[in-house]
Parts: sequence; structure tokens; C-alpha cells
Amino acid sequence: MASCTTSRRVPATKRSDQMDFADWMSAVQKRTEAALEQRLPAAALAPVKLHEAMRYASLGGGKRIRPLLCHAAGEAFGASPALIDFPACAVEMIHAYSLVHDDLPCMDNDILRRGKPTCHVEFDEATALLVGDALQSLAFQVLADAPTTSERRVEMLSVLAPAAGSRGMAGGQAIDLAAIGKPLSLEELEFMHVHKTGALIRASVLLGAGCGSADAGAITQLIPFANRVGLLFQVVDDILDAESTTATLGKTAGKDAQQNKPTYVSILGIRKAREKAVELRSEAHAAIESFGDKAIRLHQLTDYIVERKF
Ligand code: IPE
Ligand code: IPE
Ligand code: MG
Ligand code: MG
Ligand code: MG
Repeated sequence: MASCTTSRRVPATKRSDQMDFADWMSAVQKRTEAALEQRLPAAALAPVKLHEAMRYASLGGGKRIRPLLCHAAGEAFGASPALIDFPACAVEMIHAYSLVHDDLPCMDNDILRRGKPTCHVEFDEATALLVGDALQSLAFQVLADAPTTSERRVEMLSVLAPAAGSRGMAGGQAIDLAAIGKPLSLEELEFMHVHKTGALIRASVLLGAGCGSADAGAITQLIPFANRVGLLFQVVDDILDAESTTATLGKTAGKDAQQNKPTYVSILGIRKAREKAVELRSEAHAAIESFGDKAIRLHQLTDYIVERKF
């Protein structure tokens, strides 16, 4: 998305004393992989096929955007990375499950995900269905095990549950399927995107911040930020689907047009979709401007989400 670049300045004071963003991102991705690996059932444990498939769908791939947002928001409010690992794993498990189901023949019918055969192709459809079920319940188990107060654990559960359910991601997926071939208005499209992708991204930010000292005022400010980033993420996904290649994406390019899905690109055209991304990006930055330097990773992640190539 080179033409979306209006890069945000990184505060001068932070350039020298902070770990480089690429190094920070790689460190969070590595710790997320380790945290997931530790929390997923061992492949040797019965039922072996289901556990192998859960690990196949969750480990060794993906950008880990949602865990990155969790850590970025948590760090901004002084949370310990070891505590943030819990919601970071939980949101990634829900996300991994949503991808396994999204790829099923009854949904997008995709054969490639994260550069590998999709879960139902590698295993079988029934296993892929169960992988989703099991990853979803494990996500809630992980949150219930978080080493924090019981009040915070309940708060975390009540952030993740609606984000994953019919008022969030699952609801958005239902809208997506019902919209195939339909001429949606921009408003209807945004409603769909806010649910199918935005809800989990918003939960990632709020869960991370909730591990630290974010008070009600800070959360109120984070909500519009997270909403913009959620929408931005899907606008860019739609643009990449139209413009990139299968080899770069690690998933089949051009699927949205092939399946007649309403997207930002189909409704607005590429140029306006890019303009929308630029607009959402500036709104996201503006929403957290008053946090100052402590929100630097959130600013950098916002830029990364726009500039990513896959
Ligand atoms: C793809 O999500 C599905 C959407 C919600 C648009 P990601 O682009 O975050 O997928 P991975 O986790 O990096 O594979
Ligand atoms: C999937 O959206 C969103 C969820 C899995 C909740 P897409 O269908 O656009 O995702 P990709 O493009 O297959 O990754
Ligand atoms: Mg889909
Ligand atoms: Mg899909
Ligand atoms: Mg897509």
C-alpha cells in the first residue's frame, strides 16, 4: 500500500531510547508463538488429530496483529508482558478459529492460508469445524487462568465474549455471507466490517490496556482509536485482496471479486479505498494523540497496518 504513506512522525525523544519497532514486533511475535505453544494441548495428547490440527491452525504463521495490539496497549499503561500474554493468546485463538471456519467450503472455500493448505484441506472438514470449537473454548479458559484479580478476569471475559459472538465477529461473518452479490451501501459495508474484523481488534486493544493502569477515561479514548484501526485493517485487507498476489499474501488473491463479495474496493474503487485508509489512519492517530509517547507502539502499529504487504 505504498500510496497510503503519510507516515506519522515518531517523537524525537523516542527514536534513540526505544527498541526499534521491527525488533519490538519480532519480539512480541516470538513471545506470542511461545505463549500459544505452551497453552495449546500437546500434539501427542488424545484426541491426537484434533490437537495436531489446533496446533497447525494456530502456530507458525500469521502476523499476530491482535496480540501486537494487546501488547502495545498494555505497555502504554504499564502492564507486565507476562500478564498481557494471556489476553494476547486468547484473541489470537479466537482469530485462528475464525480463519479456520472462514476458509471452510460453506464459507469462503479457500485452500491456502498463511502459506499452507487450509485446515480442512490438510485434515478434513469435520476436524476443521472442531478445531474452531475447541480453540474458541480454550481462548476463554486462557482468560479465566490469567494471573490477576477475579474482578479483572470477569471484565476480560465480558470484553472477549461479545467481540467473538453474534454481536461481534460471528455476527459480522453472517452479514458477510448474506451480502454476497448484494449491492451494499457504504454504511452497510462498514457495519459488516466493524463486526467481522473490528470487534476482535477493538477487544485486543481494550484487553491489553485493561491489564495495565488504563482508567475509564483512557478506555473512552481508546475506543475510537480501536474502532478506526479495526475498520482500517479490513479496508487494507480488501485492497490487498484486489492488488496483491497469492504468493505474497499466503492466501488466494482476488477471492473477493471472484466470490462477488462487497468490499471497499468493489463499492468505492481502489483509489477511494486508499483514501479511506489514509483518512482512518489519521483519525486513529488523532484519537490517541493526547497519550503522548507512551502510545508509540500503537501509533507504529497503525502505520504498519496500512503499509503492510500481506
Ligand atoms: C485476516 O487476518 C482475516 C481478516 C480478519 C481480514 P490477518 O491478516 O490478521 O491474518 P493473519 O493472522 O496475519 O494470518
Ligand atoms: C475474514 O474476512 C474475517 C474473519 C475471519 C472474521 P476475509 O474473508 O476477508 O479474510 P481473508 O481475506 O479470507 O483472510
Ligand atoms: Mg470471509
Ligand atoms: Mg476469507
Ligand atoms: Mg479478505
